[in-house]
Amino acid sequence: MLAVNAPGGAAVPDAMEAAPPCVMVIFGAAGDLTRRLLVPALCQLARAGSLSPNFRLVGAATGERTTEQWLAELAGWRVGSGGDADVLEAAAWDWLTERMSYVRADLHDPQSFRSLASHLERLDHEAGTAGNYLFYLAIPDRLFATAVAGLGAAGLTREGPTREASGYWRRVVIEKPFGHDLESARALDRDILRFLREDQVYRIDHYLGKETVQNLMALRFANGLFEPIWSRNHIDHVQITAAETVGVERRGRFYEQAGALRDMVPSHLFQLLAMTAMEPPASFEASAVRAKKAEVVHAIRPMDETQALENSVRGQYQGYREEPDVARDSATETFMACRLFVDNWRWAGVPFYLRTGKCLGCRRTEIAIRFHQAPLSIFRGTDVEHMHPNWMILRIQPDEGIALEFAAKRPGAKVTLDTVSMDFCYATHFHLAPNTGYETLLYDCMIGDATLFQRADNIEAGWQAVQPILDAWARNPPRGFPNYAPGSSGPAASDELLARDGRAWRPLA
Ligand code: BG6
Repeated sequence: MLAVNAPGGAAVPDAMEAAPPCVMVIFGAAGDLTRRLLVPALCQLARAGSLSPNFRLVGAATGERTTEQWLAELAGWRVGSGGDADVLEAAAWDWLTERMSYVRADLHDPQSFRSLASHLERLDHEAGTAGNYLFYLAIPDRLFATAVAGLGAAGLTREGPTREASGYWRRVVIEKPFGHDLESARALDRDILRFLREDQVYRIDHYLGKETVQNLMALRFANGLFEPIWSRNHIDHVQITAAETVGVERRGRFYEQAGALRDMVPSHLFQLLAMTAMEPPASFEASAVRAKKAEVVHAIRPMDETQALENSVRGQYQGYREEPDVARDSATETFMACRLFVDNWRWAGVPFYLRTGKCLGCRRTEIAIRFHQAPLSIFRGTDVEHMHPNWMILRIQPDEGIALEFAAKRPGAKVTLDTVSMDFCYATHFHLAPNTGYETLLYDCMIGDATLFQRADNIEAGWQAVQPILDAWARNPPRGFPNYAPGSSGPAASDELLARDGRAWRPLA
């Protein structure tokens, strides 16, 4: 959901009115995602008064534990400084814990779903949750279809007769990865759509919960300034970077099957690409926005095997093969870069360079837009060789903000140009409240706003666009892995990819 703040000065974080009563059921309640992101996000929503007093949270997982034990396990994330924020957080935590319960659930056992159904019915009677259920699948992706089938068989995906009036709703949030290639994504869609309508499915990509990602639409479509220059007529190329300093940490088992391309590109990086390149939608309605984003991904130029290999680079950091649960001869990439074209009237001929990797020199997610070089002939004889063309940098994280780099004359008698930067920083202007990125997304699920979620065809278009690279890589195993040092900016081939076009990445320093 996009909310627009009043202009001027530091804005108060949006007060979102309380969502309708519902029970949220988290499958994978004992996992990392629940502890680190989902429960903290619910706490933030509770603190902002955005949850109904009739809200209830049910944790479901395979382990035998009581509600008290589950709460004790979760309490660990609340490590604070003891300041005012902590007091508010403690109050929100207390509010939430009164509404939480744990149930043991074996996704392969129909009885577990029947017990869950009885538990939910009880909550409807006792707590007035109105039969509205939000199921969150924070579980390994191979279990998504099993979980949905179990819910379906227990009648838990069936909605009330009149959804608008007294009817109740049932929604399922599905984490990424949604499939591991085009075929498996399609198969998963077929499986879940046997039990759910498309509008009951919320395929989540947490990048869309980030304020700065949502702000891309405001920047482009709420300002008269940028849209007229947002095309191949003025833009030379676009660089999209998602660099991380961490390695695979404890996720070796998952990552060995995924790799950087599957993990980041069809989901997060394509979201950034789509937001950057989409045509203006007619409204902020979910269907209008999602249709425009899908068009971008559909317009990515297909590649044959040779082109896929020429336009992509893979890397693996030194030390990856010694990480837990990683094969000693692993061929999994922890870095990828590629060069794509969006073949439509707005973007024809403008390269989009994407890169992402683990164990790089800095943590930074940004979209860098390079405008055409100005004809600098009037400055001939001055120091213009060192001039850079204009850049607009949209910093997604950390240090969220927007910078515009342009040329200015250095003070003095001699004409010398320098690059200066105009910088807007979110944190200082808006006093950003702590935000996991999941707050908006969870709230949107509860109010039924699917704008920031992925439709089946968006996901499939993403896989379709990367499939040529996946296929080319599968047929041509990597050579020379590991090929980059931790703390560097990735393999040398990544720089060569741009150097071939006479361009260079913005440094990862
Ligand atoms: C996840 C990936 O989806 O996104 C991780 O599976 C990655 O490998 C993470 O680290 C990055 O998210 P963020 O919000 O830290 O940029």
